[in-house]
Amino acid sequence: MRVIRSIHSLRQVINKAKRQNKKIGFVPTMGALHDGHRSLLKKCRRENNLVVLSIFVNPQQFAPHEDYAQYPRDKKKDELLAKKENVDIIFYPSEEIMYPKGYLSYVTVESISDLLCGKSRPGHFKGVATIVAKLLNCVSPDILYLGQKDAQQAYILKKMIADLNFPVKVKICPIIRENDGLAMSSRNRYLTQQERKEAPILFQSLQEAKRKILAGERNLITISRLMESNIKRYSHGKLDYIECVDPGTLAPLAQIQKKFMIALAVKLGKTRLIDNIIIQIYAMGQRIK
Ligand code: PAF
Repeated sequence: MRVIRSIHSLRQVINKAKRQNKKIGFVPTMGALHDGHRSLLKKCRRENNLVVLSIFVNPQQFAPHEDYAQYPRDKKKDELLAKKENVDIIFYPSEEIMYPKGYLSYVTVESISDLLCGKSRPGHFKGVATIVAKLLNCVSPDILYLGQKDAQQAYILKKMIADLNFPVKVKICPIIRENDGLAMSSRNRYLTQQERKEAPILFQSLQEAKRKILAGERNLITISRLMESNIKRYSHGKLDYIECVDPGTLAPLAQIQKKFMIALAVKLGKTRLIDNIIIQIYAMGQRIK
């Protein structure tokens, strides 16, 4: 495994791999790696000859009041985990390399960046799209691997890739959960003991919504209210949003359709948690995925 810090050295290795017809898979991260990242790396390893992992805590996707300074950074642990997953290259650029003095260029994926998490995190997805565009230009992968937990991020990046003609295929991988259902996230480590006990309420309320829909409930307002009251009752969490959206466009839905996504964000203490499920209804049999 090589740890590469400069874009020039990375491109030399990538160009050599391309000349050898190697298929290049890429997993972008901000480090503090967990089993969710591992599942992306495992899939990437299975499907490619060269596995590139980037670790860069991107300042452009944090608002000034957010957790950029506290964001967990554990280079040694990350390197160990990457080695275990047979990563070939860790790209570890510095802030000066990615955003040198005088940096002026940004990527905005309009309108969909303002929905869901974008409402309470203005500018966040501009930061995400910009860094991923830059990383794609450095790594030139054949396949980019992203996680379904950050469903809006994945959707926005897919749109950016299509709109700007990046020659890369995108694969979205399933959410990996703790035993109690909490979606894995680097930010889970911020939770106090009490908050950690309460955190599975996000997934539990999604499951409860699914059960209600299975039992025939079709009113989205009733479902959102039920989820909200569960969150209030069983946690100290402050609800940011619960939304039912079309998974193909992220457009908010007024009515249940055959396939839809329920997404939510909850602030538990200082930690903002997100989760989602995609529900598919097969005719009147109401089989749910
Ligand atoms: O999901 C993340 O870890 C980040 O948003 C990403 C995609 C690595 C961009 O900084």
